[in-house]
Amino acid sequence: MTGLSPQQLIDLTYIVAAVLFILSLKWLSSPVTARHGVLAGEIGAALAVGATLFNPELVQYRWIVIALIIGAGIGVPLGMVHMTAVPQRTALSHAFGALSATMIGIAEYYVRAPQVTKFGMVEIGLEVIIGSLTFTGSLIAAGKLQEILPQRPITYRGQNIVSLSVLGTAVVLALILVIHPAYMKLFPAMVGVALFFGVLLVTPIGGADMPTVISLLNSYAGLSAALLGFVLNSKVLVVAGALDGSSGFILSVIMCKAMNRSFTNVLFGAFGQEQVAAAGHVEARPVHSATADEAAAILAAANKVVIVPGYGMAVAQAQHKVRELYDALAKRGIDVKFGIHPVAGRMPGHMNVLLAEADIPYDKLLDMDVVNGEFPQTDVALVIGANDVTNPAARNETGSPIYGMPILDVDKARTVMVIKRSMSPGFAGIDNPLYYLDRTLMLFGDAKAFVGDIVRELGGTHQ
Ligand code: TAP
Repeated sequence: MTGLSPQQLIDLTYIVAAVLFILSLKWLSSPVTARHGVLAGEIGAALAVGATLFNPELVQYRWIVIALIIGAGIGVPLGMVHMTAVPQRTALSHAFGALSATMIGIAEYYVRAPQVTKFGMVEIGLEVIIGSLTFTGSLIAAGKLQEILPQRPITYRGQNIVSLSVLGTAVVLALILVIHPAYMKLFPAMVGVALFFGVLLVTPIGGADMPTVISLLNSYAGLSAALLGFVLNSKVLVVAGALDGSSGFILSVIMCKAMNRSFTNVLFGAFGQEQVAAAGHVEARPVHSATADEAAAILAAANKVVIVPGYGMAVAQAQHKVRELYDALAKRGIDVKFGIHPVAGRMPGHMNVLLAEADIPYDKLLDMDVVNGEFPQTDVALVIGANDVTNPAARNETGSPIYGMPILDVDKARTVMVIKRSMSPGFAGIDNPLYYLDRTLMLFGDAKAFVGDIVRELGGTHQ
């Protein structure tokens, strides 16, 4: 390493960090390599932060150390929340990321103003507007998911026009600052208007769309960081921000496709309103139910079983019992697979993470497109705490709020068994016609307890 100046060493470290970020995203896209992906991302971030601390322009470390202690004090407990609270935790992370980008942008403005160049003002203006709206939008999203704020969409007549006018005002203020750098008083007004727009942007969106919105906000936070990279002339920030922005955007597109929604429909559709209306109409119709020993007997007689997990499995933390069930059935020579819907649970990859935690072999996890071809040859589809992702209304009922959403075709299996505690609806708040079919058996109970009872009946391991 002789011959390299300190600045060249820093730049080299940034390049290594950027490569690690790219590898991290690549590895995160498969459960087999995901752990490497997390590690690569962590090392990349540590290298980028570490190299920045050696920047010769840094004159003292006192405030940085204080900020690191405060940040770690908030970040460590945030990282330890329960898996079901990860969406709101992620929203808070985006809020903090956007807040820091905004504050650095604001500081940079006041360091330069009023001598800021036109191009510099465009960069700072865009960065601060996007960072500000992402900050407040993410806070509202976290509040909705944590149910501190109402989950339902809050809408009013002319809302889109009002929201777009507020955004337009922020942009006009930024443009005036580009043309007249001396009007420095307009800068705080621009920040305030952009913060207000973030609230207006997310308040009208229903809770059901929040994970998609969070993914979009992730993309905005990345965009804001990339712009900040241009402001500060930091290439690593440009790369990291661009990766964050584009991956967040791609994830939003995947989620919209899985729910058969368009971006405009998510942003302006007020999806949750229909849920609330429909939730009151769950009919009391007869269903067939069965006990754990009956369910065990049906499973024992099957050749091919597909297990479909959903949010209820996560709530019950039933994944380890599900693993025992998998072992007990596989030991009997039964072909057991798992059908994974892209939006089962409450966050992308939710089911994959839980089943990986229970060491279910990855090759037994089939994506929706693949497993749907297998249901007609399946003896038993065992649904564990999933509801909306199996609802045939998405195929047949044009008036249903989930009409058009691709679902797991469990109703095509010879027998369907559904473990859930009651006839309560799932996230979309609507009844599920699957439960009233002649070949459907309802297994009422907590997912962990019920699966444990089936395992016991099958003679597998249990507590
Ligand atoms: P849901 O439709 O929400 O249904 C979950 C079911 O689990 C409920 O009907 C509930 O019935 C049951 N349950 C809850 N606790 C249980 C327990 N302890 N034991 C057994 N069952 C329990 O879940 P899903 O099928 O996974 O669908 C996900 C929904 O979330 C979809 O509407 C999807 O669009 C939405 N969503 C997901 C995402 C992502 S990224 N995953 C993003 C946005 C929206 P009981 O109360 O009767 O037990």
